[in-house]
Amino acid sequence: MMTSRRHYIFPTLLLSTILLSPTHAADFCVADLTTQTTSGYTCKNPTNVTADDFVFTALVHSGNTSNTNKASAVPGFVQQFPGLNGLGLAVARADIEPGGAIPLHSHPAATEMIYVAEGSITAGFISGASNVVYVRKLNKGEVMVFPRGLFHFQVNTGKEHAVGIASFSDEEPGVQLVSLAIFGNDFPSFFVEKTTNIDEAEVKKLKVLLGGSG
Ligand SMILES: *[C@@H]1O[C@H](CO)[C@@H](O)[C@H](O)[C@H]1NC(C)=O
Ligand SMILES: *[C@@H]1O[C@H](CO)[C@@H](O)[C@H](O)[C@H]1NC(C)=O
Repeated sequence: MMTSRRHYIFPTLLLSTILLSPTHAADFCVADLTTQTTSGYTCKNPTNVTADDFVFTALVHSGNTSNTNKASAVPGFVQQFPGLNGLGLAVARADIEPGGAIPLHSHPAATEMIYVAEGSITAGFISGASNVVYVRKLNKGEVMVFPRGLFHFQVNTGKEHAVGIASFSDEEPGVQLVSLAIFGNDFPSFFVEKTTNIDEAEVKKLKVLLGGSG
């Protein structure tokens, strides 16, 4: 009798101790964006954390697509959405007008998965191992994955405004656009020509278009 009673009480006490303990390990670390260190962000004081820290509202509206690409991408990475810190995922919204494109780019630190919420998007990526290009037209509701670090793109080949909602496997995916990496900086034209086999006139034209110099 005594023994079975002890067995019954002990787990109950243990559970209460775990639930009521004020010193349990933190289960989140909302980034304090003012205190970035080499090893990441420090945590916002938990007593100042609110539900708003876990909500991101910037994807409600379309981004501004009045640009040469007829497209916009609004990121919800840790810098915009501090509640993601340490959780290993991020989000973004892409808006692409008919004929527009999200240019060829890579996220060095993350795999991306895109869900077509409106319209249709033709998307693709290039294998790093074989240079094989995998392209597919995605209709509303369909999802495509772009493996980590690989160059990929999204083009609206349809006739209506397209919206894609992307998720990423890291809160800091990074973004590198191929066109800006080559033509949008001060990479000397001589070396751009030598290392890409693109002729001088074209290099100069693209540097002007993409804000580069040199
Ligand atoms: C928490 O919020 C209070 C009230 O806004 C503020 O005075 C205090 O400095 C904050 N603490 C930290 C650690 O940010
Ligand atoms: C969209 O961007 C264009 C070009 O930068 C600008 O002229 C226009 O005012 C912007 N529209 C909105 C609604 O912000």
